[in-house]
Amino acid sequence: MRTLLREFEKNGHSADAALVKWSPDTLRKILDTELPDAQVIVVSNREPYIHNIKDDEVELVVPASGLVSALEPITRACTGTWIAYGGGSADHLTVDEHDRVAVPPDDPTYMLRRVWLSEEEHAGYYLGFANEGLWPLCHIAFTRPNFRTADWETYESVNRKFADAVVAEARNERPIVLVQDYHFALLPRMLREQLPEAIIITFWHIPWPNSEVFSICPWRERILDGLLGSSIIGFHTQFHCNNFIESVDRFLETRIEREDAAISYQGQTSLVHAYPISIEWPPAQLGKVPAVAQCRDRIRSQLGIADGVKLCVGVERLDYTKGIIDRFRALGELFSRHPEWIGKVTFLQIAAPSRGTLPDYERLHRECARCAEEINQRYGHDGYTPVLFVAEHHTQRQVYEIYRAADVCMVTSLHDGMNLVAKEFVAARDDEQGVLILSMFAGASKELLEALIVNPFDAATMGETLLYALTMDSDEQQYRMQRMREIVRDNNVYRWAGSMLLDAARLRKRAEVELGGIAEPVETSNVVSLQERWRAMT
Ligand code: F6P
Repeated sequence: MRTLLREFEKNGHSADAALVKWSPDTLRKILDTELPDAQVIVVSNREPYIHNIKDDEVELVVPASGLVSALEPITRACTGTWIAYGGGSADHLTVDEHDRVAVPPDDPTYMLRRVWLSEEEHAGYYLGFANEGLWPLCHIAFTRPNFRTADWETYESVNRKFADAVVAEARNERPIVLVQDYHFALLPRMLREQLPEAIIITFWHIPWPNSEVFSICPWRERILDGLLGSSIIGFHTQFHCNNFIESVDRFLETRIEREDAAISYQGQTSLVHAYPISIEWPPAQLGKVPAVAQCRDRIRSQLGIADGVKLCVGVERLDYTKGIIDRFRALGELFSRHPEWIGKVTFLQIAAPSRGTLPDYERLHRECARCAEEINQRYGHDGYTPVLFVAEHHTQRQVYEIYRAADVCMVTSLHDGMNLVAKEFVAARDDEQGVLILSMFAGASKELLEALIVNPFDAATMGETLLYALTMDSDEQQYRMQRMREIVRDNNVYRWAGSMLLDAARLRKRAEVELGGIAEPVETSNVVSLQERWRAMT
């Protein structure tokens, strides 16, 4: 038995992820060979395609979400089912009688199953517990988390609602369920109870705090218990895995095998691994946008930027974790220390409105606008506006054009799990030009070492880094960009998903060996535990 187990482990390691060229085909092959007949179900709060009513027409919106840009190509490659909250004003109108709609709309390859939430459910589960509780708890952005019992109860009942949707969508008792993010900490346990043989891979897209910070959550044990229903719990960095394991060690009775990064709890083992998320490569958007020179001309003339003025950009959701005000401050530092740059650089900040009804987000919006205005009053003059703050949703295509037009991209999150904007900027620059300034507190800084790494809390040094970026010669830009592009190409999102699926396949094989046999999955809507049948057989 032990030899067999070792063989499985060895096989897993022999598929050395680094030597594989990762593509949608690689993913499909892993599924065919390692997890035959497995149905892939993705669960997230945010849906990949939102249908809204605009001017009496149905408008399709792809939300500004790193999660969506990463998971969409994966779900397409696996022809899976994606279950998400249907929040668009026309979402009801576009689904069939099972609340499903085939997507992508122009070339359908998978099913989006929408889950409906009442206003109260959305307020308690999404705005309340997830975004006023867990979000500030997990990010070091010095915003106080708010925990309310009513929100917690709604969070629990909405997690239950999604669990029921997964069970309803499962074609057999052994699907692979990819649970996304902090909206669903309780879902893995609920699924484990209803689908004991499922592979449940939970990916936590945001940081995990240290155990001292985590301890302030009144439902900390329940959250850990919920997550430990997963077969695999993934984070972007080893640091966040360590914080999670430390929290489990402190608050639950478990056995932790640190060497294997495995936690045994209530007779079940969960792996806790770092899988740095990424983007598709080559990015589909690149095929749709004009050449860099054209993008530069178009964007600069749209914004009225004069010749000889450098363009620096920031692109994100309008969120207090993103360090938007801090980069405005860095620009102010640049102007005050190096006044010769006044009139020679424009900062374009694209900020997609997000969670806008929450007081912290309303305040941030006002604060960003005020800060931009202050710089413009102080340093602007006729025909020159130093900061362009555009708090509007932009399509992916518009965003890629902006990346291609930029001389410098600033990604200065105060704290971030990964921050895919950094990788998207690199992917957009097939001309191998442009400078990336990247926060040391974004997960991406562990991979993109050729970026100019900054501490966003230190505006003066960031101002100096901005100067360095603006004056970097083309050869150095190329040298740095080439290396970053290699990293993003090799560590693309197919590798992210493929590594998790390979680990999941290993776990499943090991479980089969431990249980003494391999059984065929049973096609049924009425789920019966394989474990129970094995137990009866032995
Ligand atoms: O990083 C956390 C996260 O939920 C991402 O997964 C997602 O890209 C982003 O925030 C979107 O936030 P929301 O869905 O609340 O607009």
